[in-house]
Amino acid sequence: MSVEKSVPATLIAGDGIGPEIVEATLLVLDALGAPFDWETAEAGMAGMRLANDPVPQATLDSIRRTGLALKGPLETPIGGGFRSANVRLREEFKLYANVRPARTWVPGGRYDNIDLVTVRENNEGLYVGFEHFIPIDGDPHAVAIASGVNTRAGCRHILDYAFEYAVRNRRRKVSVVHKANIMKALTGIFLETARAIYEERYRGKFEFEDVIVDACAMKLVMNPWQFDMIVTTNLFGDILSDEIAGLVGGLGLAPGANIGEQAAIFEAVHGSAPDIAGQGIANPTALLLAAGMMLDHVGRQELGDRLRAAIDATLNQDGLRTRDLGGTAGTMAYAQALARRVAG
Ligand code: NAI
Repeated sequence: MSVEKSVPATLIAGDGIGPEIVEATLLVLDALGAPFDWETAEAGMAGMRLANDPVPQATLDSIRRTGLALKGPLETPIGGGFRSANVRLREEFKLYANVRPARTWVPGGRYDNIDLVTVRENNEGLYVGFEHFIPIDGDPHAVAIASGVNTRAGCRHILDYAFEYAVRNRRRKVSVVHKANIMKALTGIFLETARAIYEERYRGKFEFEDVIVDACAMKLVMNPWQFDMIVTTNLFGDILSDEIAGLVGGLGLAPGANIGEQAAIFEAVHGSAPDIAGQGIANPTALLLAAGMMLDHVGRQELGDRLRAAIDATLNQDGLRTRDLGGTAGTMAYAQALARRVAG
């Protein structure tokens, strides 16, 4: 009999529907036999209540210890100068890669059979916040200036991650998205680095193409199946990953991973959904899919695959769906059906 090693991980229930979808996710992960040994921690409004801080020190310490977290959505307290807890976590752990797989889970929507992964650079580019105004003639905002920063090291980091991901997950093609025809330095360095790394180490392992961002946005709407995996800089990745989530329809089905050197944090793309919190009707699938990515990340892809197969079967064979997908199942009824599927 093989003795399975347990994997320490931090669990943050979060705000709004967070505790409900986390409870549902744990039920399914238990039935699956997932190896995680959870340390619970608080963040967001729950962190405020506990420690008067949306990202309490104890939470940072826990993630630093485990290097791995599953996180419910965090509400950013309004007013009082609070910075987004999500942004703080991203900065604190230098989570440089944002990975968002998009798949058609429920056929019959706008686009069937989509299976597309976006890898977005998370720390550099035009989002570094180097911005200022120049006042002229009494107008304090007469001129606005923003500088983007992309470093060779940052480009290498994200491209290495994306290309390794492509090989590990047997992706057939990687599209490097840029605007190097206009922003020749800022996004030229990304394209140049991508080409060099592909030639050095990845030629023949998958198909490589580069696409200009505006053309990419149009091609995604016209024929998304031509893409398999996209890797791009921060701003373009932010915009395109939302566009792609829209192709497969539904926030309830979109997971994301934030990967850094010392930690990886997995979450649903959606927020705390205060309008339905506490009603037991939220869809836990996005967080479950994030947990599936976490299983892949720790080398337990067979469990991740079993979880994804169970989600597919529950949605499409059992026809059990939460309200956001047109069904009537409550959060826990759906989770119990999934638990039976993963155990069976
Ligand atoms: P939201 O994603 O929470 O909700 C948008 C709409 O989608 C709502 O109608 C909601 O009911 C629905 N929805 C979202 N997730 C659902 C699910 N799992 N099942 C069924 N329906 C679902 O976005 P909103 O309202 O803009 O943000 C609410 C709060 O969440 C804000 O405080 C925001 O800052 C925070 N937020 C946190 C994120 C994170 O922690 N990663 C991401 C986005 C927002």
